[in-house]
Amino acid sequence: MARGARSPEDITPAGDAESRALRPSNSLFEDDMNTFKPLVFSGVQPTGNLHLGNYLGAIRKFVALQENNDCIYCVVDLHAITAQLVHDDLRGQIRSIAAAFIASGIDPKKHIVFNQSAVPQHAELAWVFNCVARIGWMNRMTQFKDKAGKDRENASLGLLAYPSLMAADILVYRATHVPVGDDQKQHLELARDIAQKFNIDFQDKIRLTDTGVDMVVGEEPIHGYFPLVEPLIDGPAPRVMSLRDGTKKMSKSDPSDLSRINLMDDQDEILKKIRKAKTDPEGLPSDVEGLKGRPEADNLVGIYAALADKTKEQVIAEFGGQQFSVFKPALADLAVHVLAPITTEMRRLMDDTTHIDAILRDGGERARARAEKVMGEVFDIVGFLR
Ligand code: TYM
Repeated sequence: MARGARSPEDITPAGDAESRALRPSNSLFEDDMNTFKPLVFSGVQPTGNLHLGNYLGAIRKFVALQENNDCIYCVVDLHAITAQLVHDDLRGQIRSIAAAFIASGIDPKKHIVFNQSAVPQHAELAWVFNCVARIGWMNRMTQFKDKAGKDRENASLGLLAYPSLMAADILVYRATHVPVGDDQKQHLELARDIAQKFNIDFQDKIRLTDTGVDMVVGEEPIHGYFPLVEPLIDGPAPRVMSLRDGTKKMSKSDPSDLSRINLMDDQDEILKKIRKAKTDPEGLPSDVEGLKGRPEADNLVGIYAALADKTKEQVIAEFGGQQFSVFKPALADLAVHVLAPITTEMRRLMDDTTHIDAILRDGGERARARAEKVMGEVFDIVGFLR
């Protein structure tokens, strides 16, 4: 871990009473060059409907983190064309993710909400990172293998390079902490590898340009430019599973709409999907250990826990021994209670595109100011003329 960076324990979701919570800062842009200032960054792709997995694994954590940290939340539209080039309504999708952020409680005035393509430095840094990263690293990415399928030769070059753009998204702000679901863990490890290789390869130039921070990589003290990002994956629902198959991730691309709860589903759809959710014939176990080997039961208990801000133990203490005919209606009521206000607000915001566009424009301008500064320093370090 970088000597100059704070430890990830310093980053605490709101509601954690520990005194290690970070003090809020008035400015995202004041840069203390002796340490990496803690900064949270994350992104969501504008492809398909947002679902409960996106909400519990990511957006709910974004909201909690904003209480004590500076945060940048991005609609990653450049990523949206890696798997599918032509979209019917990309603009509408971008607005709907921004609406979901705001409807869930993210404050776009105190923090930054913007769309990636508004800040060209993401793509610019991604090019440099394409030259830092090795093809072998990219070929090992499980998401690339899953998405490219058997016909890898026919996948877009963008799909292969995707994790390099993702590293650039984070590091063009020198962000330090990244809340994501479990499926993004490997991509964040790769972002650390890219940062580390850049820091080592360019360490003399970083020192010469006086732009870095003292850090230790392995045993070696170096003067590095990019922080080694810390993933924030924990929480009761780091991986929400399909309602039709507890061994598969809940996903936007699953052909069965019954497999997921979409943030835009109405009350009747939520009730129906939870009623039809796959379960095994037994009721809920009397302790959490009893959820082992029962992926569907485990998933539903995890979803309840995340929605109620409880632990699985607390949920089992309440419902242990009960039949699904009792648990499912309670879960459906809770899901509607939590999601309905978000859905209503999302619909209202999406009817007012002028307002959403103004938020994104303002966020884009503020993000660009920071990214320009970092990219200028990267130009100096690499040795481009400017
Ligand atoms: P994306 O758009 O697929 O998903 C957005 C967020 O939702 C989380 N997530 C889940 N969490 C729990 N259970 C699930 N079933 C589930 N499905 C999705 C994802 O982990 C993610 O946090 N590559 C990213 C977007 C990205 C990004 C970044 C993220 C681009 N640049 C920089 C962080 C930092 C993606 O495709 O997420």
